[in-house]
Amino acid sequence: MKILFLLAFILLLPQSKGNPFSRDDDSYQRTFEELQREIAGYSGIAKEIINLAVYGKAQNRSYERLALFVDAIGPRLSGSKNLDLAIKYMYKALSKDGLENVHLEPVKIPHWERGKESAMMVEPRNHSIAVLGLGGSIATPPEGITAEVLVVTSFDELHQRAQEAKGKIVVYNQRYVSYGETVQYRQRGAVEAAKVGAKASLIKTIAPFSINSPHTGMQSYQSGVPMIPTACISVEDAELMARLSSRDIEIVLTLKMEAKTYPDADSFNTVAEIVGSKYPEQVVLISGHLDSWDVGQGAMDDGGGAFVSWEALSLLKDLGLRPKRTLRLVLWTAEEQGGVGAEQYYKMHKVNISNFDIVMESDEGTFTPAGLAFTGSDKARNIMKEIMKLLQPINATGVFEEGGGTDINYWIRDGIPGASLRDDITRYFWFHHSQGDTMTVQDPSQMNLCAALWAVVSYVIADMEERVPV
Ligand SMILES: *[C@@H]1O[C@H](CO)[C@@H](O)[C@H](O)[C@H]1NC(C)=O
Ligand SMILES: *[C@@H]1O[C@H](CO)[C@@H](O)[C@H](O)[C@H]1NC(C)=O
Ligand SMILES: *[C@@H]1O[C@H](CO)[C@@H](O)[C@H](O)[C@H]1NC(C)=O
Ligand SMILES: *[C@@H]1O[C@H](CO)[C@@H](O)[C@H](O)[C@H]1NC(C)=O
Ligand SMILES: [Zn+2]
Repeated sequence: MKILFLLAFILLLPQSKGNPFSRDDDSYQRTFEELQREIAGYSGIAKEIINLAVYGKAQNRSYERLALFVDAIGPRLSGSKNLDLAIKYMYKALSKDGLENVHLEPVKIPHWERGKESAMMVEPRNHSIAVLGLGGSIATPPEGITAEVLVVTSFDELHQRAQEAKGKIVVYNQRYVSYGETVQYRQRGAVEAAKVGAKASLIKTIAPFSINSPHTGMQSYQSGVPMIPTACISVEDAELMARLSSRDIEIVLTLKMEAKTYPDADSFNTVAEIVGSKYPEQVVLISGHLDSWDVGQGAMDDGGGAFVSWEALSLLKDLGLRPKRTLRLVLWTAEEQGGVGAEQYYKMHKVNISNFDIVMESDEGTFTPAGLAFTGSDKARNIMKEIMKLLQPINATGVFEEGGGTDINYWIRDGIPGASLRDDITRYFWFHHSQGDTMTVQDPSQMNLCAALWAVVSYVIADMEERVPV
């Protein structure tokens, strides 16, 4: 007994001398084996969290909360009344949940509305084309734009056929490689088409397939290049037009869009905390975005991410767990317009960047989790691998490359460790930014697992004796 006590005393001694504020490598006085032991010591707590979230009283809670929220409020476009209502709703809900420092941080956000929109093929036959205007697009004239179609499969082909594009509606029938690679057609399609004199551009939805469903998203104009109306169309219609045009059949469309950009609107990032018991100024940030596109319900993107992040705090609170550092939930506004809320948050809080331990975001679905994707030093990654072993009971121990997200990348670029929830993304882009993004996509048992993972990781990082190294 005495020897054990002495041994424990010797093991504890150096760490109490360590400077908890410094993230300098030299201040890590404990060996990796000691850290491993400390992390393994959380396995009991991890099991409690998992039991509560997956099998216990909190089973399906994040799903039920999300359903109540999105069924009642609906989609939450930047600048919309719905988004305002959503923020007010969350402020009340987080306060009622007993979380601390619940508050709203003001942000000016874009306000664009699509208005009525339609597209009709008039040659070679009448055929109604499903369209969704892209974020920020201008309108067509009230009578619409009626023009011949030029179908291309790439920017290269557009440039080669630049002479043919003048006065036409350019239809991009690009091949889907991955979202990350193919999304450039949505982002730059209008600008590239305008440069060669097109009147409008229609982009095949950025998804592996569709069920006649267009998927919207942000696009950007470029100064000095004329702005032209731009929308996305279904995979089916893009391919239909590509087949017709490959047979030299002339296609004529009438595109009508009433889209309008209004002055920037007032909005807020929504914040709640569990204040740290020992280093309250140090922050483990866990997040998702509250805004969505204006179609479907924004249940998957990013209702799920926002609500499993909230659930992580609720689970810890239910278990009476208060970590040493502050666990801060941030529900971002206007992510879809390019991380507008997150940028404002970063600018405001970067004075305290040395107090940020890790930034975490869930914005790639809340399907069956496999672990998390992490960006940070090798030393930090090795610690994350140890922490993820605690998720063995739910088989979600993976530590993957390239953690990040629109809302947390501001911090990651400055060297703060970043993690994103990594789940089975197979079905994500089937529904993303489309009418299909509804509660029907969400699964309660998968959300339970995501919430458990999120709670274990954030709690252990917030509670470990030493900080995650940079
Ligand atoms: C949670 O959802 C699953 C799947 O829908 C269901 O079987 C289970 O009964 C639900 N549990 C509770 C507590 O509602
Ligand atoms: C196509 O639609 C136009 C306008 O509604 C109509 O005048 C025309 O008759 C239609 N053509 C066919 C083949 O149905
Ligand atoms: C920076 O951190 C200090 C200490 O926690 C806090 O009092 C202050 O409000 C923070 N400032 C900002 C802009 O977050
Ligand atoms: C555990 O997860 C891995 C990878 O995510 C998967 O391949 C495997 O089938 C899972 N095992 C079980 C028992 O679910
Ligand atoms: Zn999102």
